[in-house]
Amino acid sequence: TSKEYDGIPYGEGMWYTQEQIRDVVEYAMSKGITVIPEIDLPGHMMGAIATYPHLGCSGGPYEVLRRWGISNDVLCAGKQETYTFLENVLEEVCGLFPAEYIHIGGDECPKVRWEKCPHCQAKIAELGLKDDEKHSAEHYLQSHIMRQMSEFLAGKGKKIIGWEEMLQGELPEGSTVMAWRKNKYAHQAARLGHDAIISTRTFLYLDRYQSEDKEKEPLAHSSYLPVDMVWSCDPYLSEDKDAEQLTEKEKSHIIGVQSNIWTEYISGNTHLEYMANPRMAAVAEVQWCQPENKDWERFSKG
Ligand code: ACM
Ligand code: ZN
Repeated sequence: TSKEYDGIPYGEGMWYTQEQIRDVVEYAMSKGITVIPEIDLPGHMMGAIATYPHLGCSGGPYEVLRRWGISNDVLCAGKQETYTFLENVLEEVCGLFPAEYIHIGGDECPKVRWEKCPHCQAKIAELGLKDDEKHSAEHYLQSHIMRQMSEFLAGKGKKIIGWEEMLQGELPEGSTVMAWRKNKYAHQAARLGHDAIISTRTFLYLDRYQSEDKEKEPLAHSSYLPVDMVWSCDPYLSEDKDAEQLTEKEKSHIIGVQSNIWTEYISGNTHLEYMANPRMAAVAEVQWCQPENKDWERFSKG
């Protein structure tokens, strides 16, 4: 089951040298594709803090996760070293990816370490951050780190994308919000005048099973996402039955959709392509086809 782990490192040998990344970026560009990297911060950072334990709140030691999921250990948002580290990483990333956007993550960052960490609490005091009826001071501390990185990147002519958790606090100016749990978060961002991208897991996460007959499929994320479900994704539809329709102006802030194939369960390129197809064609249909022209009969005959 997906709660059992084999301890075999995934993606071994699947890292890139700078030269290889340049090659990927250039090849994609020749096909009219812009590659946008994601450096997920300040959570999902076990690789970094296992290697540089001083970047965590307690100083470690830490181990790289051997299981699926979220870690309570995240980057310490109180220490100056963290900001310097992130700026160095992002500087290097900017040199490799000419895209206008850099995705800086912001998802799934538990606040339990920050609540107890003297460095994080000192930063909260220094910035005068307070709990309010909507969010905790620690959420505003995350907004601070996102904004700092956004401003750093703006200085390099880049805009940021971040996951919908950026709404828990203050959105960095000019940031684009990517929704992964519910469309309604993208809509919320659009209503605030921010661009947003729909990447909702129920429709667009291609690391999920393609068939209900899981025995015959390669091990995948536990749930089932058939091609017709992907095809049926409606970026403008809210999960809230009572939500008002987006205005045309708000709709213009929904700038596209994205599918994710997280590769923890994926063994190599052939497997990756198996997971992508034919669902990626359905994503293209959602992305590019005017709703009035969408036609399952035409699409499925392909
Ligand atoms: C996500 O799937 N945590 C963006
Ligand atoms: Zn800390």
